[in-house]
Amino acid sequence: MADSILITGASSGIGKALAFEMAQRGYTLGLAARREDELETIQKQIREKHPSTKIAVRHLDVTAYETIPEVLAYFTSALGCIDIVMVNAGIGLGEKVGRGKFDQARRTIETNMIGAMATVDAAVQYFLNQGKGHIVGVSSVAAFRGMPGNASYSASKAGFAVYLEALRAEVYKKNIHVTVLYPGYIDTPLNNMISSRPFLISVEKGASIIADLIEKKVKSSTVPVFPWNIVGKLLKLLPTSVIAKMG
Ligand SMILES: NC(=O)c1ccc[n+]([C@@H]2O[C@H](COP(=O)([O-])OP(=O)(O)OC[C@H]3O[C@@H](n4cnc5c(N)ncnc54)[C@H](OP(=O)(O)O)[C@@H]3O)[C@@H](O)[C@H]2O)c1
Repeated sequence: MADSILITGASSGIGKALAFEMAQRGYTLGLAARREDELETIQKQIREKHPSTKIAVRHLDVTAYETIPEVLAYFTSALGCIDIVMVNAGIGLGEKVGRGKFDQARRTIETNMIGAMATVDAAVQYFLNQGKGHIVGVSSVAAFRGMPGNASYSASKAGFAVYLEALRAEVYKKNIHVTVLYPGYIDTPLNNMISSRPFLISVEKGASIIADLIEKKVKSSTVPVFPWNIVGKLLKLLPTSVIAKMG
């Protein structure tokens, strides 16, 4: 039986492109997001391109935390089993601290951190019962250094990455793999309004790199690996005067 992957945030950007990439690689797909109409269009397009792909779609709002186990159970029964959960749903609202935008900061943490944790929690419970599984969490290079204008986003991605690091130790020797991805700039609706996007790659290229990293079961990696593996380390060392100009 083909390996199956559940992707959250599959209605757009990286999640959508990864759905097409994994279909091409022969995976069974579970696609979740809030916009069900988008998911149904993607399902139709994938079926046209890869008629033998088994694929299920379902509405999911990761901030409706208590609904996640039930959505996971739906995909398990629709697909037979789930081998990989790609915790990808996220938002980037780009607000500054103390400018009356706390609501945006709260929503960012609720989605990117608590929603991601709730997804992982439900997936790990399922994987522990199944005796195997693979969690792939999408953090960001913004986790390496708190970026001005993105305090809540950086915090959400750093918090999620550290959470997954702890999880990896918790499930050590339980046949559950944990991969943390740190994308740089991948061309998607999340960031296409930003004027400067260094080392930008297309979403198709990003999805292909991510699929390779998933198949290798790496513990963690930047996306693309180079130059962000170097730039990420540099970001930590740069003085505040330089970082301040990036806001
Ligand atoms: N693009 C980059 O350069 C980049 C860099 C670093 C990290 N990332 C991370 O990569 C992930 C995907 O981002 P993207 O660039 O592909 O952005 P995107 O095109 O805006 O896609 C975001 C996805 O997340 C879903 N989503 C948002 N809030 C949700 C919620 N409450 N419940 C369920 N799904 C939700 C959206 O679907 P609905 O609106 O239909 O719910 C959409 O499918 C995010 O976690 C982002 O932070 C991206």
